Amino acid sequence: MIEIRPMDQTHVAQIAELEKTCFSDPWSEASIASELSNPLSCWLVAVEGERLAGYIGSQTVMGESDMMNVAVHPDFRRQGVAQALILALVDALKARGSHWLMLEVRHSNAPARALYEKLGFAEVGRRKNYYSKPREDALILRKEWEI
Ligand SMILES: CC(C)(COP(=O)(O)OP(=O)(O)OC[C@H]1O[C@@H](n2cnc3c(N)ncnc32)[C@H](O)[C@@H]1OP(=O)(O)O)[C@@H](O)C(=O)NCCC(=O)NCCS
Repeated sequence: MIEIRPMDQTHVAQIAELEKTCFSDPWSEASIASELSNPLSCWLVAVEGERLAGYIGSQTVMGESDMMNVAVHPDFRRQGVAQALILALVDALKARGSHWLMLEVRHSNAPARALYEKLGFAEVGRRKNYYSKPREDALILRKEWEI
């Protein structure tokens, strides 16, 4: 059974591995570990026993939250893991008094764009050439809620 929990030190190495699998510009293990002591950060993991199925990371400043990343291991995709992580993160951010969640997504990332659309994120802008490796525009998406 997959469970969602706050990230702790025991998850850092597997998150760094999954970052390398999923992204051309991955976060290092040290950067991920430093999020554990950042009071602005909220990171959650989806685990099956000891195994990491996915994770999500965010930072909140003055009631506005940014999603840094979300990824699901290829073995666990299309089982609702990312959806569960985002909904759990929104609940955690509401409890912190945050009123919206923003994120950037590659224009070509059809699975992620479908995920965010399903969960009610709306496009609020674009950043030209935001990404490198390969260079590509970012769409800026936002999900708002009542608190
Ligand atoms: C994008 C990603 C996080 C989705 O994770 P996931 O756990 O497979 O997604 P879920 O099973 O929760 O899917 C929820 C909804 O998202 C959409 N979706 C997810 N993957 C999709 C795909 N490959 N194609 C089309 N729609 C997809 C669907 O609407 C899906 O609902 P449905 O299964 O009822 O049709 C995963 O593919 C991933 O880790 N990709 C690499 C990292 C990445 O791109 N992260 C996003 C950075 S902005």
